[in-house]
Amino acid sequence: MTIQRNASLFPYNTFGIDAKATLLAEFTSVEELRELLQNPEVKALPLLILGGGSNVLLTQDVQAAVLLNRIKGISQTEETDGKHVLVTSGSGETWHELVLYTLEHDLGGIENLSLIPGTVGAAPLQNIGAYGVELKDTFHSLEALEIATGELVSFNREQCGFGYRESVFKREAKGKYIVTSVTLRLTKEHTFNTSYGAIQDTLAQQQVKELSLKAISEAVCHIRRSKLPDPAKIGNAGSFFKNPEIPLAQFEILKAQYPGIPGYPVSPETVKVPAGWLIEQCGWKGKVLGKHGVHKDQALVLVNYGGATGNEVKALAYEIIQSVEEKFGIRLTPEVNII
Ligand code: EPU
Repeated sequence: MTIQRNASLFPYNTFGIDAKATLLAEFTSVEELRELLQNPEVKALPLLILGGGSNVLLTQDVQAAVLLNRIKGISQTEETDGKHVLVTSGSGETWHELVLYTLEHDLGGIENLSLIPGTVGAAPLQNIGAYGVELKDTFHSLEALEIATGELVSFNREQCGFGYRESVFKREAKGKYIVTSVTLRLTKEHTFNTSYGAIQDTLAQQQVKELSLKAISEAVCHIRRSKLPDPAKIGNAGSFFKNPEIPLAQFEILKAQYPGIPGYPVSPETVKVPAGWLIEQCGWKGKVLGKHGVHKDQALVLVNYGGATGNEVKALAYEIIQSVEEKFGIRLTPEVNII
């Protein structure tokens, strides 16, 4: 285990921001993680755990010990009902590698979450979701190391307090635990989720006759590749903002003024409005401001074309928040962690 000092984080964040970390080290097991946490140099600093670095915007050098999670390994045990399989993955596995493993073993439940960037350990923190499915739908439990005690603690679904891009690890438990493994409960007999219009359209386009986990995964990959920039080519962290939920009464007033406004009911009193639409209406879609800007195919994604600073991207994000608030009276909140 080597500890680097004043190390560049450029390769470790998908926004491609060139910030430095006071200390940088990798861990590949719980034992290595415990050892690092006991190291006096590490102990003297705040901690920042990075997996794929796909949900952070670094706006300054990080005065912290940055620990890169590389705990690997996937295993499975069948449940006695013969219909479900518990799959446990090391938290440092790449999320999409886990999806590919489940497709290989014909285990259903996370095929709609294909190609989401990041690691398995980061998935529960923000309850990743796409195309009608969220992590919480198949989540069984996770193990996390409690930083204060070095003990492994187990969390079931209820204890994780999942919400839309939310969990207890963004609230009460923030900064207190490091996820070391995640267990999902997957199906051997599948119920396919094609509720999302774009999936149906793509399956029809690809002339898929028989639904399968692989067909859905391929449709999702196709949609994502056509709309979202590949972080390996253009720096980005996926959706920069959450889709806001607003009171139904406010939605109806807006609908009278902007008949085209899309909205999805989340409860009898609230409606979720796509932030991408709000941002596009304010004229931001495809805007290029020097080295950064707003993606041309999805206004919810801010991009770094190369060489932008985190502060430039942050300033753009706040300009967008302000213009959406002025036009629609809705305040967007960032989904990405701004550090
Ligand atoms: N829209 C626009 N203009 C745009 C983008 C979107 O008008 O530039 C409107 C359209 O009405 C479109 C609707 O927004 O029908 C929904 O767009 P999309 O299907 O692209 O989904 P989204 O709401 O923008 C969310 C997630 C994505 C996830 C997709 C698919 C959030 C914050 N984002 O985006 O997640 O892939 O749904 O399920 O909930 C991520 O979290 O990083 C992410 C990419």
